[in-house]
Amino acid sequence: MEKIFGFFDDANREYVITDPATPFPWINYLGNEDFFGLISNTAGGYDFYKDAKFRRITRYRYNGVPMDAGGRYFYIKDGDSVWNPGWKPCKTPLDSYECRHGMNYTRIAGSKDGVEASVLFFVPLKTWAEVQKLTLTNTTGKVKTLQLFSFAEWCLWNAATDMENFQRNWSTGEVEIENGNVIYHKTEYKERRNHYAYYALTNAKADGYDTDRETFIGLYNDFTNPQCVVAGKPGMSVAHGWSPIASHYVEVELQPGEHKDFVFVLGYAENEQEKKFSLPQPLQKEGGLITSLGTLDRTIINKEKAHEVIQRFASVEAVDAAFSELRQMWDGLLSKFTVASADERLNRMVNIWNQYQCMITFCFSRSASFFESGVGRGMGFRDSNQDLVGFVHQVPSRARQRIIDIASTQFPDGGCYHQYQPLTKRGNNDIGGGFNDDPCWLIFGTVAYIKETGDFSILDEMVPWDNQPGTEVTLFDHLRISFNHVVENLGPHALPLIGRADWNDCLNLNCFSWDPNESFQTTENNSEGSKAESLMIAGLFVLTGKQYVSLCKELAKRSVECINYQHEAARAQACIDAMVEAVKQHGWDGEWYLRAYDFYGNKIGSKENEEGKIFIESQGFCTMAGIGLEDGMVDKALDSCKRYLDCAHGMVLNHPAFTRYYVEMGEISSYPAGYKENAGIFCHNNPWVIIGETVARRGNDAWEHYTKICPAWIKDQSLHKVEPYVYCQMVAGKDAAKPGEGKNSWLTGTAAWNWLTITQYILGIRPTYEGLEIDPCIPSALSEYRVHRVLRDAEFDITVKNPDGRESGVRSIVVDGIPVQGNVITATPGHHTVEVAM
Ligand code: BGC
Ligand code: NOJ
Repeated sequence: MEKIFGFFDDANREYVITDPATPFPWINYLGNEDFFGLISNTAGGYDFYKDAKFRRITRYRYNGVPMDAGGRYFYIKDGDSVWNPGWKPCKTPLDSYECRHGMNYTRIAGSKDGVEASVLFFVPLKTWAEVQKLTLTNTTGKVKTLQLFSFAEWCLWNAATDMENFQRNWSTGEVEIENGNVIYHKTEYKERRNHYAYYALTNAKADGYDTDRETFIGLYNDFTNPQCVVAGKPGMSVAHGWSPIASHYVEVELQPGEHKDFVFVLGYAENEQEKKFSLPQPLQKEGGLITSLGTLDRTIINKEKAHEVIQRFASVEAVDAAFSELRQMWDGLLSKFTVASADERLNRMVNIWNQYQCMITFCFSRSASFFESGVGRGMGFRDSNQDLVGFVHQVPSRARQRIIDIASTQFPDGGCYHQYQPLTKRGNNDIGGGFNDDPCWLIFGTVAYIKETGDFSILDEMVPWDNQPGTEVTLFDHLRISFNHVVENLGPHALPLIGRADWNDCLNLNCFSWDPNESFQTTENNSEGSKAESLMIAGLFVLTGKQYVSLCKELAKRSVECINYQHEAARAQACIDAMVEAVKQHGWDGEWYLRAYDFYGNKIGSKENEEGKIFIESQGFCTMAGIGLEDGMVDKALDSCKRYLDCAHGMVLNHPAFTRYYVEMGEISSYPAGYKENAGIFCHNNPWVIIGETVARRGNDAWEHYTKICPAWIKDQSLHKVEPYVYCQMVAGKDAAKPGEGKNSWLTGTAAWNWLTITQYILGIRPTYEGLEIDPCIPSALSEYRVHRVLRDAEFDITVKNPDGRESGVRSIVVDGIPVQGNVITATPGHHTVEVAM
């Protein structure tokens, strides 16, 4: 029997961890707007405001020993014993332990010697703070006298320099202490920096504090044995430089059966330039320069904003009310699409965890997880567009803004900054552009938004190029120019030039790096004279190009400029037809689609190659796009995926894996066989093939692939290692040391793509401009399911019946008792009952 570390509690929408020593920290995310926290099942992790690099609030040590050191810790000293509710860091054996990861909240409870400690962690809506409600209960018949220490360690704002520039950092830390209850982190809070953080005990009086790490912990101790806790006495330290921390000390007496709640708030605030200091006085300015600060005490923060939040959460009732608001928000978010089937694993993925992960990837892109350090990557152009399709039904207004933000970083020729920083919304120069798949994704994201909302007005929004005021054109123009970017960058076979790379960041056909100190991701490319072409972009172009054409046709119906849109649709269609021809002519290898042509025009992903004969990306995109469906190419390619790529844990990215470095292919061949882009099971591209299976109407095959990578079907938690409730980017492939071992959990396009796959292509409930297309492609064993779907002002209760065990095909649809022609139902406002027979 495999060891089990937890279970799903679907009724509460929680995953319950019952053993703190999980095979890897199993984390959750707090906050979904501006203020965020990462929290592991032992309360490790950190907080930040908007940007995990520039506004890191608490410190975290990635790659530390032991793993997952640093977090929000409560130390309970009961006589000689010191323990934490989440087991770590002391790891004192507990009498009971439970961690419940829910929708943007986590509750960790531990007990020892008749004392129960339960901590609820969450970020209230519209609040720049993490609230922690600690409940201590005495379950014995005797009075308990406990000593409680809270703990948080401040990061000196920039998470990158915090880890490297010690000659400066160890002199910058500053704090303020207010009545012992509120500890302010005001490092560099001067004219240039407008923000501070604070950690407050809001509903009780602290009996002491510490703000200097060395005093609290002891230079040669660690989180497991802070000297103040061991001594049972706070140090009352005031940090000057070095490492500022925040710790409250509280003496707690509990009568038999009594419980007490303590509310802590860890927050962030920004002050206006004129209101930064404690005694606000008008600043005297000359020529725009600050010449005098009057009699302001420039050492004391104006704390109004912190006070407001602290007062707002000064009672348990207020905290509970905010918590129930958060839960209600999730009730709303998760009510737009629900499925009821006989398979509870399917239900829990669709109704809870897949949607939740989509919200998280929407908020974080690829920036901050336990595999992404938050310092390297902002919002990805392609990543964020893909994330949109999993999120757009949840909060369409935020999706709308995201589309505008992303498009604003585009260049006038349709090329794109590959990433942008969320705080500034400006493109990242260190990585730049040149990834030739990027423009297509803007069409993909925008079309998904319009189909969900029916909001065509987004296309009229004026959006700049590269954020330069005065350069604005409509969003529709951005889409047109995005489409053209592919058309204008074709190679010798009339296939798309790859540029720096396509979706596969590690297939670096123009990089030629021999310098081991160089990053493949940022190094300059030699695209000059290159013949490198991508079949992945070809498929993506046909898929998103078709979306563009039908958008133009739809606009032709709705607009006075009807003729123009018709022309545009026809022009675009001709480009797509030409691309389809090029793929058939130059992109087919006999049993599967080629992957690419390299710099010199040699084939990649062909039976002629020694290694890497077949790649998943082009199979996925060309089958999704239906290229050569009528000629049997789609079925053949899908069969080849099963034959060469599939294994017990999913489909690997390429086969055979590369066993040596190929300078003409770059990073992909730098990985050991079976990992990451070199024949790992890249969960992100499995759904492409699954959708391809539905294009070929092969419901059983689609389902088999779907369940192989789906978290709810994971059996061996120790092998899988990472969280069993969310997708990870990569599962070690068949060539790896431990096939089936998961890595890089949470922040992956896998979430959105699987959401799209299961809801729109397997269950087959697909938004169109008119309403919903009903097109199931399911396992023949699934005899019935019901879907509740809210689309715009319409609400549908759909029952799909499959009495004859088919895999696809709709025989009849009845809406509100009336049979409809075809398989599209209109989104007429109001509630509708839909009966579908297969
Ligand atoms: C990883 C890719 C990632 C890229 C960009 C590479 O090292 O293998 O998965 O997209 O870095 O950060
Ligand atoms: C992860 C990146 O975030 C994504 O942009 C890329 O497409 C994949 N890795 C594949 O390389």
